[in-house]
Amino acid sequence: MPKHTIMSFHTILYCSARRDTAAGSSREEHTDAPTGAAVKYVDCFYAYGVFSIYGGRKYAEDFMYTERIGGLKSSAIREILKITSRPGVISFAGGLPAPELFPLEDIASAAQEVFAKYSASVLQYSVTEGLRTLREKISLMLEPDASLIGPSHVIITQGSQQGLDLLSKLFLEKGRSVFTENPSYLGALQAFQLFQADILPIASDRDGIQPESLRRALKVRRPALVYIMPNFQNPTGVSLSMERRLQLVDIVKEHDLLLVEDDPYGDLIFSGEKMPSLFTLGGTRNFIYMSSFSKTIAPGMRVAYLAGSEEIIGKLAVVKQGTDLQTNTLGQYLVNEYLESGRYYGHRNLLRETYKQRRDCMLSSMESYFPGSLSWNCPEGGMFLWVRLPEHCDAREILLKCLERNVAFVPGQEFFPDGSGKNTIRLNFSNALPDKIEEGIKRIGEVLKESNI
Ligand SMILES: Cc1ncc(COP(=O)(O)O)c(C=O)c1O
Repeated sequence: MPKHTIMSFHTILYCSARRDTAAGSSREEHTDAPTGAAVKYVDCFYAYGVFSIYGGRKYAEDFMYTERIGGLKSSAIREILKITSRPGVISFAGGLPAPELFPLEDIASAAQEVFAKYSASVLQYSVTEGLRTLREKISLMLEPDASLIGPSHVIITQGSQQGLDLLSKLFLEKGRSVFTENPSYLGALQAFQLFQADILPIASDRDGIQPESLRRALKVRRPALVYIMPNFQNPTGVSLSMERRLQLVDIVKEHDLLLVEDDPYGDLIFSGEKMPSLFTLGGTRNFIYMSSFSKTIAPGMRVAYLAGSEEIIGKLAVVKQGTDLQTNTLGQYLVNEYLESGRYYGHRNLLRETYKQRRDCMLSSMESYFPGSLSWNCPEGGMFLWVRLPEHCDAREILLKCLERNVAFVPGQEFFPDGSGKNTIRLNFSNALPDKIEEGIKRIGEVLKESNI
């Protein structure tokens, strides 16, 4: 996508927020950032424009910021979220879990327990790899055979996003490439871009990344990393089929590649058994597995993990020392205690049931209110639905009209490294209550019909 297009879309979003403030509503008082801050952003954009015209930008890029910062842009999702946090907006935009389901009481009692059991160590510095007892539990969750995977194969990270950052620091630089699904997770693309990697999207469909396309790409280039989300991926909700898992394992081993499997949604499966990970199928030499407690406990905990060979975990620990020394000790103790209490698994079941109901509510509302020219999928887990508008439509134009009606989503194009997907939409179904889901889908349906779609 050309840079100026991105810029103008962001600017429109900022202006949209600014209009609210100018209208003198009292909304600003209730929000964290969106309205007042947005005005400042608009002004900054203006200043930035003037600055650029007079060559200031070149000066800044040459002498102030690193070269690699030059190509970065703020995530459009973060910008949309600034607007959608105002009261009255029904948002299907963020990848947010349901806050009313956070296990507040269980975490509060876990806090009492850990202070009683471990006293000052809960607030002390700790080892970079993470609490050993937590790593032991995670390694058993990944592979019950302790002779294959143990705590030395696991590192605790400050969210999976940090895992992506650490991997980028370890494996990426200018001239190296990453193969991703098309579309892929925006946060991962941002992390890879920061280290100036070339991102090569591999064709993907309703069964995940296409092995044949991967084989073709490998004839042209050897990537430093292959990055995929095998279960209910962000943004499409698609899962990699069992057949393709086996094919991918073969390809990766045949070419001796390193594949990163990012799996924050796999435990939010609505029915049946979770498919085996590529990591367990293929082993630690060629596979890295990542997951997070952000979606199954709470994202504010910032506790996630990454598993791989002992060699890679050791190197990541050194990189992490230079990044943040360690993941927050208290958060790790809380997660560890919550796992030990056994309540985590009941909570996970509650999330699965509730999110399934919300997915069903969104699907039936779409049946009722969306025009017949649209199509969508039915993911068996996770948090997202993927909607396709007719080819000629631009989802960003629809979003701007929807924001005027206080309903939001993320235009799918944001997730495509190759800039395609203009006519696609990501809808989050986990964060809104069913009555809001129906109302929000109805509003989007009205906009679509008024736009003759
Ligand atoms: C695929 C994927 N990976 C990683 C993350 C980052 O999660 P966290 O840093 O909260 O663990 C997200 C968040 O939405 C995600 O969707």
